[in-house]
Amino acid sequence: MPSFTATAPGKVILFGEHAVVYGQPAIAVPVSRVWVKTIVTPDIHKISKKGRVKAPQIDLNANMEDLPENHPIAIIIDELIHALGITNIPKFILKINSTIPVAAGLGSGAAVSVAVIRAMSAFLGCPLSNEKINELAYSVEKIHHGTPSGIDNTVITYQKPVYFVKEQPIEFIRVMNPFTIVIADTGISSPTATTVAAVRQARDSDLTRYDNMFNEIGGIVRQARRYIELGEVEELGSLMDQNHHLLKDINVSSPELETLISTARDAGAKGAKLSGGGRGGNMIAFTAPEKANMIAEALQQSGATHTFVTTIR
Ligand code: PMV
Repeated sequence: MPSFTATAPGKVILFGEHAVVYGQPAIAVPVSRVWVKTIVTPDIHKISKKGRVKAPQIDLNANMEDLPENHPIAIIIDELIHALGITNIPKFILKINSTIPVAAGLGSGAAVSVAVIRAMSAFLGCPLSNEKINELAYSVEKIHHGTPSGIDNTVITYQKPVYFVKEQPIEFIRVMNPFTIVIADTGISSPTATTVAAVRQARDSDLTRYDNMFNEIGGIVRQARRYIELGEVEELGSLMDQNHHLLKDINVSSPELETLISTARDAGAKGAKLSGGGRGGNMIAFTAPEKANMIAEALQQSGATHTFVTTIR
């Protein structure tokens, strides 16, 4: 039996996080500079009863039967096996390597789900369509995050820029002119489920104000889509600033994010915002390509734990 490999990229949300949970559009793009790679091989030496999982980045090297039922990897494999309706599973060794920082807004959880589902389904003789992989990865996201919009699993499964509206058919965006962003990590891990729950609670106590802010964000996202598709990308900086302003009002920024965002602007970025759940994790800055490395350096000096420059195309 041969081995099966799959990779999945990271992602960033360019516009629309949080509002997307309440039906507004959001734009997300894959980031292939960071990735998850999975390899499934047959366990010919039968070292485990079911299968063995090795994920060095999270210090995991265990037999499937020894994992707690609610372990994220056990959940992915159970969802897959259940969906495929297979009962006779050949013993396997699943290796998961990831360069995506965890709980930082770069989609590490969804990328692991997509790469595991893709490689394991092929290993089991039932390679799945993107549509089915996306559906299964979404069901895993729901187990972890309660009420995710589904944007992470979608952009990561299809590996293309998406204009995403919850529960609507997926729309891909054509990037007319490539553009550069700098991504910087505050190094503060901030689980999405926590920020999403906090926003939900705040919205419940001030529905009109929050829904107005979400509507405004929706307007920014629609404008951003037009600019991206028309190739008028120089407009994106100011839209990022506007989007960030609203995210701050929604109370998902943090002192560390604010420091990095002002650093990026001071170093010449045309706009910047937090990206993802917020209160930690990553920020993004829109910049002319020739200034990107200088901005990344300034961000590191202001405390960013990782920075990278990427071209969106
Ligand atoms: O923290 P991330 O990058 O996984 O993104 C969360 C995006 C939210 O809009 C806050 C939540 C969601 O499910 O869309």
